[in-house]
Amino acid sequence: MADNKAKLTIAETSVDLDVLSPTLGSKVIDIRTLGSKGYYTYDPGFTSTASCESKITFIDGDNGILLHRGFPIGQLATESTYLEVCYILLYGEAPTQEQYDKFKTTVTRHTMIHEQITRLFNGFRRDSHPMAVLCGVTGALAAFYHDALDVSNPVHRDITAYRLLSKMPTVAAMCYKYSIGQPFVYPKNDLSYAGNFLHMMFATPCEEYVVNPVLERAMDRIFILHADHEQNASTSTVRTAGSSGANPFACIAAGIASLWGPAHGGANEACLRMLEEIKTVEHIPEFIKRAKDKNDSFRLMGFGHRVYKNYDPRATVMRETCHEVLKELNLNDSLLEVAMELERIALNDPYFIEKKLYPNVDFYSGIILKALGIPSNMFTVIFAIARTIGWIAHWNEMHEDGLKIARPRQLYTGYSERDFKSEIKKK
Ligand code: CMC
Repeated sequence: MADNKAKLTIAETSVDLDVLSPTLGSKVIDIRTLGSKGYYTYDPGFTSTASCESKITFIDGDNGILLHRGFPIGQLATESTYLEVCYILLYGEAPTQEQYDKFKTTVTRHTMIHEQITRLFNGFRRDSHPMAVLCGVTGALAAFYHDALDVSNPVHRDITAYRLLSKMPTVAAMCYKYSIGQPFVYPKNDLSYAGNFLHMMFATPCEEYVVNPVLERAMDRIFILHADHEQNASTSTVRTAGSSGANPFACIAAGIASLWGPAHGGANEACLRMLEEIKTVEHIPEFIKRAKDKNDSFRLMGFGHRVYKNYDPRATVMRETCHEVLKELNLNDSLLEVAMELERIALNDPYFIEKKLYPNVDFYSGIILKALGIPSNMFTVIFAIARTIGWIAHWNEMHEDGLKIARPRQLYTGYSERDFKSEIKKK
């Protein structure tokens, strides 16, 4: 891959570095030899650092391109199912009919969780945030799948992938049912992945719940659009946790924790809260003014992205799905009106144009989820269900490539060595 050299000159010393060429995207300077020469690089937030090699997902943020294993996200969202995308992310190729049927059957047959886990929920307060419960329960799955699990064995990793993919919707729906005091609804194997999740969320033992195919498709699309996004904060967290050879369920719990923050997966919940706060289109200028004010910490949620400096391609599909859902449900959501006007104003405002701040995937997903009847504190949980496959695909790739524990260095700015004198009286 090294087809070029870079020379770094520091005082009298110069260091030759390889320049690596990826299949797509910017060239990468290989700095691995720098440490042995007594220098480290400094890059808080990893804005200019590639932490690994990967074949899974490619993003061109300037041109709004997102490819999974080479396939454009727009095509995947309109022409595939979430489970097909999962197969592609995990195994690198689109499945044949036979491979798909086998994969679907295996995922479907692992949806139940150990009955003992259902008791774990009782330890949580009913008003706990569902992300806290999801994080705790997913971490607890490590207690059920640990001793016999050898992470260096590809077959064991494959079984782990199935388990996580299959069980995550069940655990997520249980988080919701627990929070509203309803009995857990067990998975139904004759439903699709998305249909089964909606059923576990909204069915009760007293009433039949029929899954609406338009809403089922919308749910599936939300899952597809959140499935993977290369080395984002939560995926990097899963890789970092997994780099020590840790239990994968514990690593996914770490990913869930990272996803929860409002700058990452928590943005969809924060975005809906913001739209509710704006309430009517007349209030939009006031919020735009606040977003631009350097002394105000307020940001337009659902706008901007570390990588996309153009329209987020996922937001385009999400926008269409949003209209389909509202039409199907015959809903005239005033929040959508606020969202559309906010988008129009922001896209024409010099501040947002100069800083290349476009609507991201979370801008529309919240409105769709609300229309589906999902409460806002469950939005990030749904992101976590969808992103689980991305986390596992990256965790698996890291193991295939050979583990190297993640251990960044630092720019130390503390005290130099000094004498310690205790002022505490000893008994
Ligand atoms: N509203 C107002 N100003 C903004 C916004 C925003 N949403 N986003 C960035 N800016 C400004 C920011 O103040 C800064 O201005 P200046 O250069 O004058 O200091 C400039 O744009 C660059 O911002 P940054 O924080 O340095 O950029 P970043 O790449 O570190 O942050 C981000 C990316 C997504 C955290 C940020 O755009 C943000 O906080 N957006 C709102 C939260 C959000 O929607 N997050 C969801 C991301 S998509 C889902 C996912 O993949 O997790």
